[in-house]
Amino acid sequence: MLKSNGKKTAISVASTACLCLVLLLVAVQHHHRVQVHEETNREDSGTRSLLQEEEEGDAQPGSAQVKKGFSAYFTKLTRGRREVEKPVSSSASTADPPPAEDISADDIFIAVKTTKKFHQSRLNLLLDTWISRNMQQTYIFTDGEDEELKKKIGSHAINTNCSAAHSRQALSCKMAVEYDKFIESGKKWFCHVDDDNYVNVRTLVKQLSHYPHTQDMYIGKPSLDRPIEATERLGDNKMKAVNFWFATGGAGFCVSRGLALKMSPWASGGHFMNTAEKIRLPDDCTIGYIIESVLGVPLTRSNLFHSHLENLQQVSRSEIHKQITLSYGMFENKSNIINLKGAFPVEEDPSRFKSVHCLLYPDTPWCPPQVAF
Ligand SMILES: *[C@@H]1O[C@H](CO)[C@@H](O)[C@H](O)[C@H]1NC(C)=O
Ligand SMILES: *[C@@H]1O[C@H](CO)[C@@H](O)[C@H](O)[C@H]1NC(C)=O
Repeated sequence: MLKSNGKKTAISVASTACLCLVLLLVAVQHHHRVQVHEETNREDSGTRSLLQEEEEGDAQPGSAQVKKGFSAYFTKLTRGRREVEKPVSSSASTADPPPAEDISADDIFIAVKTTKKFHQSRLNLLLDTWISRNMQQTYIFTDGEDEELKKKIGSHAINTNCSAAHSRQALSCKMAVEYDKFIESGKKWFCHVDDDNYVNVRTLVKQLSHYPHTQDMYIGKPSLDRPIEATERLGDNKMKAVNFWFATGGAGFCVSRGLALKMSPWASGGHFMNTAEKIRLPDDCTIGYIIESVLGVPLTRSNLFHSHLENLQQVSRSEIHKQITLSYGMFENKSNIINLKGAFPVEEDPSRFKSVHCLLYPDTPWCPPQVAF
């Protein structure tokens, strides 16, 4: 049921980030031709930089179509998601089955992927908000030394020594280090988020406790409404088409230890980079490839993870405490943020993360005393 074998669109995905694949899919449907250039700008921030470039009028051939593609993509994403998620919302968020395993936050390894250039603008906000309550389980994977960061989080600031470029290889390099550090940690769950995600760790713990960590579990939100089609490079110049779902890295995803151990031949040491090279897709797609395509374990969808690629206005205030991750972003000069009249006005808290934090942890010293929101 998960694998809808929709119309097949022939796509050449060589050297193309997933984001562009999305654009291409949309564009193909709209009978436009989009020039997909070697776009490797895809950290969580990839979309943002792409959008900003367009806004700044840095016109590329086909950028009008790209823009149109994006609007269509948002509409489609929203529509697709509503369809995709209907059955999930009843099973994953409302009904509360008894926990399968009694876990605590200490059983979770939360990897935050960032890059040195965003330590000030993005990471500090996270350190002041959700990470401040979860220092013991949060590890920051970056690409440069930062004494200030080390003072705040000590050995949990991990310099991956990966390139700071936004290339597919650099992103896979970081994911490879995240994986190895998780295995080394001995924790029960591996969760990956980006540096523009707020993580509600209490809800995360509650959600993961529904599954034994020894079972094969891969939980997250797909960014497409159909499986991605990619080409696997076999030896002697042979290619094989593969279809699989993947959880979008920008919304965060989790993998149980049981499953992570099975991924080892394709993910540990240098193997993750080799695997990513074999299908030439970014880090989050490669995780999906190893889990769904190689190991045959289906993605468990959760609509409680949110990336800046979706319309965040649709998260209602009364539901905020039930979400696992939130995000923020810019689209056509409008900020894409959750709708929350909280402790701080938008001018002081453009991401809304400070307001979310005060909603979840009202005893935080810097939160204004109980205001009627
Ligand atoms: C990065 O390089 C430093 C210095 O050589 C080393 O101490 C550190 O362990 C390296 N990081 C990783 C994740 O290998
Ligand atoms: C977006 O905002 C910038 C700076 O405020 C402005 O210069 C630019 O014209 C705006 N672009 C659009 C498409 O509104």
